[in-house]
Amino acid sequence: MIKTFPLNSRAKTTALKQPKELFAFARDIDGEYIFDSTKAQQENLSYYYLPDAYVDKQIDLGGGYSNFKKIPEEQNLGDFQALLKGVMNHEQSTGAKINTDIVTFRGLMTKLLTLPYNLKDPLDFHIIVYDGQLFIKNNDEIELKRRQQNSQHDDPTKDEMMKKFEYSGYKFEAISTLPKPWGDCSRQLIEKRNKKVVNNYEQYISVVRTGIGKVKLLLAGEVDCLWDYIPEDGKDILPHYVELKTSKVIEAPGQVVNFEKKLFRTWAQSFLIGIRKIVYGFRDDNLILRNVEVYNTEEVPIMLKDTINVNTKIVCMNALKWYGAVIEWINNEIPKDIDKLWSLTYDPGSKSFSIVELVQDSELRNSVITEEFKQ
Ligand code: A3P
Ligand code: MG
Ligand code: MG
Repeated sequence: MIKTFPLNSRAKTTALKQPKELFAFARDIDGEYIFDSTKAQQENLSYYYLPDAYVDKQIDLGGGYSNFKKIPEEQNLGDFQALLKGVMNHEQSTGAKINTDIVTFRGLMTKLLTLPYNLKDPLDFHIIVYDGQLFIKNNDEIELKRRQQNSQHDDPTKDEMMKKFEYSGYKFEAISTLPKPWGDCSRQLIEKRNKKVVNNYEQYISVVRTGIGKVKLLLAGEVDCLWDYIPEDGKDILPHYVELKTSKVIEAPGQVVNFEKKLFRTWAQSFLIGIRKIVYGFRDDNLILRNVEVYNTEEVPIMLKDTINVNTKIVCMNALKWYGAVIEWINNEIPKDIDKLWSLTYDPGSKSFSIVELVQDSELRNSVITEEFKQ
């Protein structure tokens, strides 16, 4: 049976829980996971460092492109087994079971939250019910096909350009971070950052407990770096994480709209797991870094609301009310006491948002809920 949910649904109130980090884990340059949080912090969490004098040097964000170490897309769809291994380790070390309604990746919830202003993008998720919780993941097959289609163009020159743009996002992350706090770095280490082999294997993943309305969520999301230091336990509620982004420099009024759309997605991505700062590197068409802006995540809704052009205005509160309503609907509609599989889709053609029960598929279930996790 298909259950549909109207796109104009909005929660009356959006009682938000401040995200609280439970633990973090990392993926290293060889694609291996590190669950020891001290080791992950020491080896895979980097520190923001981008002085103006360095920006003035006209850094080429396309530099080193031919050495890009890129993970194959099929290995980069969000690794549920790694996440659940982290959950298992955390439960074993604290002796307490994590009690939540929904377990998922931040990227998927970003798509859900931004849907009112992204009505052209489809969604295809799988929901696996296990142990009274909903595990939400991508429909990997469809997601992979979509990514492959998006990266293929009729014109090979355009293809190459798109790949370079993607590379420049990772290159910006490499040149604006240090492996240790600035004060602990040698001059050589500081100067080495422009020579680093750029890769998208390395990830530092923060796992937070958060909530909206009555629904409790456990979200895992990649974080780019730290602003300054790791607060001692209990002293700060939110870690001092930074999201790094790139954008084309804004030279014409028409380009403002594209930037605002990207800033909105960056806000959603950061807000959901409590990342407090967003740093944008603006580059020109030749991928030269021209300037850098720092935004506080909590100020972005005010920036976007004050857009002069009413036709392109994005209202973060409106998106949050949709998100609150849809999360509550998913949580209420899917019975948690029967271990079934569901699919959740948004089809831009028919503008329909729905869930439907799937036939049991042990391969899909076992790909998420492993025997080890069940123990
Ligand atoms: P930019 O966001 O600066 O363009 P993230 O910012 O989420 O950490 O991702 C880092 C970089 O990965 C992005 O840099 C972009 O180059 C690439 N990237 C992320 N998501 C992408 C997507 N859906 N399609 C293409 N590239 C993507
Ligand atoms: Mg990142
Ligand atoms: Mg980033």
